[in-house]
Amino acid sequence: MVLHRNLGPFDTTAIGLGEMPLTIENNLGPQMGIDTIHAALDAGCRQIDTAWAYYCSGGEEQTGEKLVREAMSTWKGPKDEVLVATKVGHFRNFTDGKPTWDVDGRPENLIRRAKESALALGVDTIDLLYFHRPDPKIPYGESCEAMKEIAKQGVARTIGISNASIEQIDIAREILGDLFVAVQNQYSPIYTETIDTLDYCGKVGLSFVCWSPLGGFRKPKDESKFDPFREVAAAHNVSYQQVVLAWELAKGDHVFVIPGAHRPATILDSLHAGELELSEEELAKLG
Ligand SMILES: NC(=O)c1ccc[n+]([C@@H]2O[C@H](COP(=O)([O-])OP(=O)(O)OC[C@H]3O[C@@H](n4cnc5c(N)ncnc54)[C@H](OP(=O)(O)O)[C@@H]3O)[C@@H](O)[C@H]2O)c1
Repeated sequence: MVLHRNLGPFDTTAIGLGEMPLTIENNLGPQMGIDTIHAALDAGCRQIDTAWAYYCSGGEEQTGEKLVREAMSTWKGPKDEVLVATKVGHFRNFTDGKPTWDVDGRPENLIRRAKESALALGVDTIDLLYFHRPDPKIPYGESCEAMKEIAKQGVARTIGISNASIEQIDIAREILGDLFVAVQNQYSPIYTETIDTLDYCGKVGLSFVCWSPLGGFRKPKDESKFDPFREVAAAHNVSYQQVVLAWELAKGDHVFVIPGAHRPATILDSLHAGELELSEEELAKLG
């Protein structure tokens, strides 16, 4: 069984499916997307992470949320067990002719996008809605007030923030109170700068969700950072990706991972990471 943990009011899996690769540039098409989501759910995954902005720059918007809706509506399993999280505040753009990500944290935009997200997902109330990324043009508290209004209007049950510092976490705590349940920040062997926010979330009772927990797939990365994980993996006869995810989950019971996948095989392997027990010695070696 896939490891379960509590995220706010939800009993869900500590390993969720990151939907982004299924609908941004270089995805393998909608059928592969549906097959991947169904394979994850059939294997016991109970958390899907998507966003308003998970579509190809210049193409149809919200294709990630629409894919999740289709996958959920055609899945025969217990849909009410699945936590579907989405995010607002980002959109796709072109910078110097290349597909990029832009932000719009204006309150009226966040409220409008949240309603569009609920519509695309086919729900009245989104389980968990994140403010995707701070907008430097808008005071952080104003964006958080909008997230509170979204919950007040019944469009989201709980709120998270993403790409946030400790200072921003405190602003969100002050404004959102009990509605605020999770912080989603980048964290992996190639990106450990956010460990302060991971530890802080544990102290103040928030969940911490690691994005790109395997180092991501969009940019070349320093592969040597994974060498110690490869060594431990060989001893356990598992993929090094399972060791990376297990190491992240061992940082605390409040930690979650949402590995991305372009196809069923990779998420099916990742879902086993919760079964992997790393010794104190191995964890010390991995850092
Ligand atoms: N909040 C934010 O600002 C933010 C930003 C970025 C991402 N995210 C979220 O985080 C999720 C995950 O991040 P990500 O997709 O960028 O990167 P990631 O999870 O670090 O890496 C995904 C890559 O790892 C491979 N992979 C996954 N499990 C594997 C396994 N067990 N064995 C071998 N390879 C494996 C996948 O391979 P295949 O391609 O072969 O399937 C894919 O190429 C996203 O989908 C998204 O939901 C959030």
